[in-house]
Amino acid sequence: MTTDEGRRPEEPGTPASLREMPRDPRIDASMALMSEGYRFVSNLCDRMDSDAVATRLRLREVVCLRGSAAARLLYGAEGLTRVGAMPSTVLHLLQDKGSVQQLEGPAHRHRKALFLSICMDPARVEALVSEMRLAWRERLPAWEAEGRIVLQQEAARLLTRAGCRWAGVAHQPEAQLADEIFDMIDKAGSVGPRNWLAQMRRAGTEKRLRTLVEEVRAGEVVPEAATALHAIAFHREEDGTLLDPSVAAVELLNLLRPIVAVGRYITFAALALHRETTWRELFRSGNLELAGDFAEEVRRASPFFPFTAAVTTRPITWEGYDFPEGQWLLLDLYGTTHDPRHFPEPTRFRAERMLSWTGQDEAFIPQGAGDVARTHRCPGEMITVELMKEAIRLLCCEMDYEVPAQDLGVRLNRMPAQPRSGMILSAISRRAGTEASRNG
Ligand code: HEM
Repeated sequence: MTTDEGRRPEEPGTPASLREMPRDPRIDASMALMSEGYRFVSNLCDRMDSDAVATRLRLREVVCLRGSAAARLLYGAEGLTRVGAMPSTVLHLLQDKGSVQQLEGPAHRHRKALFLSICMDPARVEALVSEMRLAWRERLPAWEAEGRIVLQQEAARLLTRAGCRWAGVAHQPEAQLADEIFDMIDKAGSVGPRNWLAQMRRAGTEKRLRTLVEEVRAGEVVPEAATALHAIAFHREEDGTLLDPSVAAVELLNLLRPIVAVGRYITFAALALHRETTWRELFRSGNLELAGDFAEEVRRASPFFPFTAAVTTRPITWEGYDFPEGQWLLLDLYGTTHDPRHFPEPTRFRAERMLSWTGQDEAFIPQGAGDVARTHRCPGEMITVELMKEAIRLLCCEMDYEVPAQDLGVRLNRMPAQPRSGMILSAISRRAGTEASRNG
């Protein structure tokens, strides 16, 4: 890590750092971001032949970064904050004020420990996987009867059900909650009325969860001790106080929303199974030993979180560049996982790469990098991969289906991306001899 304090004297108006760093000649690159989407930072870096390029977005100075050295900076350096790093339209739908992602230092580590105790405990993760299996099997008879489903929507629904039961909030109005959470993820990258509507709906969701936390504390609702609702409702801050109920609601959503978001990866996994027939046949034969490698390659290859962002809270030096206080930094997650220097033939799906979230690799960063307990790295990687593995097994071993003609194209300037059709499956039937066929 090359980050330390100190900076050269500044000339008025131009931070010293930005004089030396390659600079995008355009006055503002916002239009390019909208049209290039996931490829925006990589295109810029390739054009300027550098992994660090200064530009402007919505007239704000920003340094665009990619690669493992930059990942070490955004996931490990002192003197950075996530506060003020995301547009408020994204923040209010994905994280919101008071959440763990908006904290730093000891307060962050203390709150993060709560998430690790919930998300990285193998027994709790297995309980969530069981809930998803149950919810999937419950939906199968309806899928058979309907004859045709949009997997992305169905996955969101059944993961909402599984996540709510697992977290101890099962009595929430399920279909409504599923739609609200789906919108939080789907509309985070949009601006204008679609985004405002999703923000209004999110405010309603938060209010219901806040009331629930208050009822738990008053003893009117008694969740099981192993649930996230119990852990969050009775979590104490470093000073011994309980979380403000609205912050507790935000953190509950910080579990439910990304669990539902895993449905997008499950959709991309189904797409990969459709295209990678050799792998599909291997899994259908019951040999699931390498389902984890397959899931990890889906995480690498599929467009999901395009970038992450931070702002410096004091002057820092990184790789010979001086960043002034208040410098906005954008790290290219998608571009880093598609960089041919790290992943040869990056556009080819190759589960043989044998990637793993446990490897702490700073180039394989679909959900962030670094020490999960001390940085903003996602605490949900174990959950994500385990849910994906189970979904692959359910798709291959517990059901038969066809993939009818449809538009499976993925537009890289829509964030978050998805197969355009949402992945339609038809002629669904339970495979004979499986648990699912016995339950129906
Ligand atoms: C659907 C797949 C997922 C993706 C693509 C994803 C992506 C990410 C990324 C990129 C970050 C880092 C943000 C930053 O740098 O500031 C993050 C943080 C976070 N994720 Fe995930 N995530 C996923 C699933 C999950 C799951 C399943 C959970 C929990 C159930 C979860 C909970 C969180 C939390 C609480 C944070 C904030 C951590 C902190 O600030 O210390 N995520 N996620």
